[in-house]
Formats: sequence, C-alpha cells, structure tokens
Amino acid sequence: MDTLAAEDEKTARPRKGDRLVFAYGERAGQVIGPEDLPLGGPQQLAFPMDPATKIIRDGSLLNQVALVRLDPAQLSPDTRADAAGGVVAYSAVCTHEGCPISMWHKESKMLFCACHASRFDPADRARVVDGPAPRRLAMLPLGPIGGGIVAAGGFTGRVGRQTA
Ligand code: FES
Repeated sequence: MDTLAAEDEKTARPRKGDRLVFAYGERAGQVIGPEDLPLGGPQQLAFPMDPATKIIRDGSLLNQVALVRLDPAQLSPDTRADAAGGVVAYSAVCTHEGCPISMWHKESKMLFCACHASRFDPADRARVVDGPAPRRLAMLPLGPIGGGIVAAGGFTGRVGRQTA
C-alpha cells in the first residue's frame, strides 16, 4: 500500500471487521477485549483498526469510539441488537459542539460531555438525557466477540456535529 492509500485508510470511517484498539495510554494501539472493560462503565476510548493492514484509523478524531460494557439485561432491545456480550460502542464525539465524550457520570452511569454537560444513556443507543446535545451519539454496531471487539458495520448515524 502506498503512503497516500495508507493515509486514506487512517481517516476512513470504521467498517465491518475492524478491531477496536486503545486510543491512548500505555496500551495505545493494542486490541481491546471485553475483559479490559469494567462492567458498568466507565467508557474506554478506542480507535478502529483494519485487521489486515493493522492500520489504526486515528487520522480523524471523528473515528474516536467510546466502548462501554454493561449487563446485557439492562440494554434496550434495539441497543442489544448492536451490542456484543453487553459491550456497546458509540461515537465519542459530542453532537453539540464536537467535544470528546471522555467523561463518565458515575451516579447515573452515563456518558458525559464536560463541555456543556450533555449526558447520553449507553443502555439506550446513547439517547440524550440531559444538556444541549441535539441528538444521540452514533452507534457502532459490534459483532460476536472472539479475541477482540469487532465492528459489524459502520456508524449508524451522523457523527459529531456534522449537519450534512
Ligand atoms: S460539546 Fe458536548 S455538550 Fe456542548
């Protein structure tokens, strides 16, 4: 693959078969397994990785994903349909002004945007519960887990503050 194609792959949106890897910290770039996610939150920030080329799609912050592991029984039915073993994945870009969804609201067990205090319910397809965010976070459907967390398709909605 030439350099240009590799750059394109780094900014391409996640797609079916992509693995999820740690976005930051000591384990940045390593594949995330369900056991790496504490049950009940908080979220782990991740980027998709093409399993064949090992290219991590961290060339765009719009590819940042928040992974949360919940009790499958707590998920709404349509959330469960796109979860794997209780693990759910959402765009980690706020739909209000595009801040990263890097905080966790412990009391309510919800994804929290610290910029203007929007909260999103990870058990219900990241529905907006509080704050100025105009719409839910896009979900990244996950497939059966085997040696990692695997995307079953692309984001199910618009990512971040995009209007088009
Ligand atoms: S950017 Fe998230 S609430 Fe404003």
